[in-house]
Amino acid sequence: MRLLAIETSCDETSAAVVEKLDSNVLLHSNITASSANMHAQTGGIIPENAAREQLRAILPVITEALLKSEKITVKDQNEAFALSNKIIAEKIDSIAVTVGPGLIGSLLVGVETAKTLSFIHNKPLYQINHLLGHIYANFLVENETDNKRIEFPFIGLIISGGHTDLLFFKSHTEYKWLGGTRDDAAGEALDKIGRMLDISYPAGQEIEKRALVATDKNLSFQSPLIHDHSYDFSFSGLKTEVMRYVKKTTLNPDTIKSICYATQNAAMKVVVKKTLQALNEFDTHTLLVGGGVAANNYLRESLSHEAMKQKMNLKLFIPPAYLCADNAAMIGARAASSEQALYWESAKALPELYF
Ligand code: KG4
Ligand code: ZN
Repeated sequence: MRLLAIETSCDETSAAVVEKLDSNVLLHSNITASSANMHAQTGGIIPENAAREQLRAILPVITEALLKSEKITVKDQNEAFALSNKIIAEKIDSIAVTVGPGLIGSLLVGVETAKTLSFIHNKPLYQINHLLGHIYANFLVENETDNKRIEFPFIGLIISGGHTDLLFFKSHTEYKWLGGTRDDAAGEALDKIGRMLDISYPAGQEIEKRALVATDKNLSFQSPLIHDHSYDFSFSGLKTEVMRYVKKTTLNPDTIKSICYATQNAAMKVVVKKTLQALNEFDTHTLLVGGGVAANNYLRESLSHEAMKQKMNLKLFIPPAYLCADNAAMIGARAASSEQALYWESAKALPELYF
C-alpha cells in the first residue's frame, strides 16, 4: 500500500509518499517547508502567520513530494501540478493527514486539502493523531532491505515543543497513556529559557550546542517532579528557577553556556528517570522516542548510560533528526500501521485531540 501523507499541525508544511512493508514503512519522499525563520523574528509562533504560510506552501510541497517519489523533475509548475494529479490517480492507494492536536488554522489547511484530494481521486483517508506519528517515525526505513525489528510491547516517549508524554504500546491498536506534562512541554521550556538568554527560537538545538562546550559545570537547577512516582512532568518551575538565576547574573558567553548545561541536565534527568521507570514497570526493554527534542544527543546518551547502570539491555529507537521534527512521513508511517481508513466526509481538524 502506497500513501500520500500530509502534516500541517503547526509551523511545518510537509508531504510524504510512503509504502507499507511487512513490519517497516518505506520512505519514498518527504518534503518539508518551515516558517520557523519567520517565527524567530517574533520570538514564538503567531498562529495566524503560521496558517498563512501553510496556505502558501501546501500545494507546492505536495507536488514536490509526489514528483520526487517517482524521481521526476520538471521546470514548469503547471506541468508539475498535472503530473502530480496523475501520480495520485495511478500510484497512490490512500491519503493520510494529521487531524490534531495542533493550531486550528494550520490543521485546517492540511485537513481540507487532504479531504479535497481524497474526494476528487476517490481514495480512502486516514485521520492521524500527530503525537502517535512522532512515535511511528521509528518504523520508517530509507531502503527496502533495511529491516528494523521493533517488537511489542514497547514504551513510547514523545518529547517535543508541544508535548512530553509517556505511553505503553501493547500493539498498534492497544496503547495506554501513562502520563505527561502538567504545564510546559520540555521543548517549550527550553525555547522560553532560550529567550531569556537571547537565543533565537526554537532554542533547543542551540542550548544543546552551548551545554556541550560549557566549562563551568557547577551550576545546577532542580529537576521538577523527579521524586514523584507518577509519570507526570512539569517544566514551568524550571523556567521560573532559571529566570530568577538570570535576573541576578551577568550574562556573558560563559555564564550562558553554564546555564544551558544546567538547564539541559535538569530537564533531561527527570525525563530519563521516568522513562526507565516505565520500562521497568511494564517489563519491556524496547523504547521508541520521537518529537523535536528527541534530536538531542545528550538525551540519547543519558538514556543509554542510565539503562546500562541498571543493567537493562535497552533497545532504543530514535529517528534521524529530520524525522524527529514535524514531518509527514511519520504521519504516513502511523497510517500504514492503522486499521482502517475512513471516508473523507468524517475528517475534521481537532486542535485539542489527545489519546
Ligand atoms: O516536534 P517538533 O518539531 O514540534 C512540535 O510538535 O512541538 O519539536 C520542536 C521542539 C522545539 O521546542 C525545539 O527547541 C526542540 O524541539 N528541539 C530540541 C533540539 N532540536 C529541536 N531540543 C533539544 N535539543 C535539540 N537538539
Ligand atoms: Zn510535533
